[in-house]
Parts: sequence; C-alpha cells; structure tokens
Amino acid sequence: MINGLAQRLRAATKELHAAAERAGIMPDLLRGQLSRQCYCELLRNLFEIYRALELALTARAGDPALAPVVFPGLFRTATLAADLDILWPGSWREQLPLQGATHLYVARIEELSESAPALLAAHAYVRYLGDLSGGQILRLIVTRMLGTRQGEGTSFYDFGSDLEVAEAARVLRAGLAALPADESRETAIVAEALDGFRMHERLFVELAQRRDRALFTACPATD
Ligand code: HEM
Repeated sequence: MINGLAQRLRAATKELHAAAERAGIMPDLLRGQLSRQCYCELLRNLFEIYRALELALTARAGDPALAPVVFPGLFRTATLAADLDILWPGSWREQLPLQGATHLYVARIEELSESAPALLAAHAYVRYLGDLSGGQILRLIVTRMLGTRQGEGTSFYDFGSDLEVAEAARVLRAGLAALPADESRETAIVAEALDGFRMHERLFVELAQRRDRALFTACPATD
C-alpha cells in the first residue's frame, strides 16, 4: 500500500512521467534502438546527476528532514562508472559531453544541498523509485540492445533479485512517509519532483538533438 507523500508524488508526477517516456531519445531506448554512443552519452549525463545527488545526500544525511530517504545501498554513481568503463572504449569523462540540462540539474542539486536539503527527497524519489520501477523494464531492453553478456554493462539497473527490488521500493516509500514534512514542505517536495521530471525531459530532448545533428553532418551532400 502507498501512503501519504509517496501517493501524492505518484499522482502529481503521472502526467510528466508519461511525457518523459515520450521525450527525445526515450522512445528509441524503449524500442531498443539507441546506438551505443547515444546510450553512453545518456549514462555519462546520468553519472554527473547521480554524483551530485549522492554527494548531497551523503553530506546532508544527518539532517532529520532528509535522513529517512538516504539509502547508500541504492546509490548509482559507482555502477554508472563501471558500466561506462565497459561500454565506452576510451576516456568517457572527457570524450562524452555534458548537456545544458545536466549542468542545470547539478546546479539545482548543489543549491538545494546548501539552502534546502529537505527538498533533495524529491530527487531521491524521482531517480531511485524510477530505477526500481521502470528501470527494471529497461534493464532487459538495454541488455538486448547492447548485445553484451548478461549483466555486463548494465549494473546500473541491478538492485538484486525481484524480491529485493520490491523491498527496496517499499522501504523508500516508507522513508518518504516518515519524513517530518508539514503541508507546505510536502507541497515544495512535490513541486521539486515535477521540476526533476522536467529536467529529465529536457535532457532526453537535448541528447536527441545532439544525435540528430551528428547524423545530419555525417551524411554526404546529395546535390
Ligand atoms: C522509457 C522510460 C520509462 C519507462 C518505460 C518507465 C516505466 C515505469 C513503470 C512501468 C513504472 C511503474 C508504475 C506503477 O507502479 O504503476 C514507473 C514508475 C516510476 N518511474 Fe518510470 N519509466 C520510464 C522513465 C522514467 C523516467 C525518465 C523517470 C524519472 C525521471 C521515471 C521515474 C519513475 C518514478 C519516480 C516511478 C515511481 C512512481 C510511483 O510509484 O510513485 N521513469 N516507471
């Protein structure tokens, strides 16, 4: 059963979730039709977002307004680095570019860490509950798309067995319910989660524009 803030977040973000699924590179990813380069660019950008988020969650873990949703066992920075080390045969930190949306997202997380750590809960919801839900569908698609051996280059999606994934989602929702948030704080967390979805949508669009530009310039002129 989902209660309180978790229920509110789910209802409020439903529309933007659907929009994010349709944005930019996402439909191709869902069809398993993203090039390895484009997929690695997505991971590179996610790496930067998770790095900022997980640094902030760690720095603010002692804040009772945030502590119930800080679960280092869910952290993804190391898995993203491990996947990129396998999938990108080069120096991915330097070779794969960061998008404007990522810079904005990182700046927002750093700002919250300084001035409103309680709102980082919104980003823990957007990312980790997403990874524990839709991420588990993407895991199969991406494994097939990359043509790698089972589990190779897809540790980002690995949270253990199905039972462990369900338990982690339950515990995260319970953490959201345990936040000492009054009505106005809850409203602010929901607004922040909506912005989190919008920033993802923007990132997916920017990655698609970059891919399409690269395709266009790679095509020889026909006239
Ligand atoms: C192609 C992309 C995606 C697919 C196929 C997908 C699919 C799903 C599915 C099937 C669920 C479970 C819904 C339910 O329990 O009723 C879910 C939940 C969720 N997804 Fe996604 N998703 C995608 C992209 C995203 C993105 C980009 C984000 C974040 C920016 C995200 C964040 C979430 C969150 C936070 C939940 C939990 C909703 C809740 O129960 O409160 N998803 N997703």
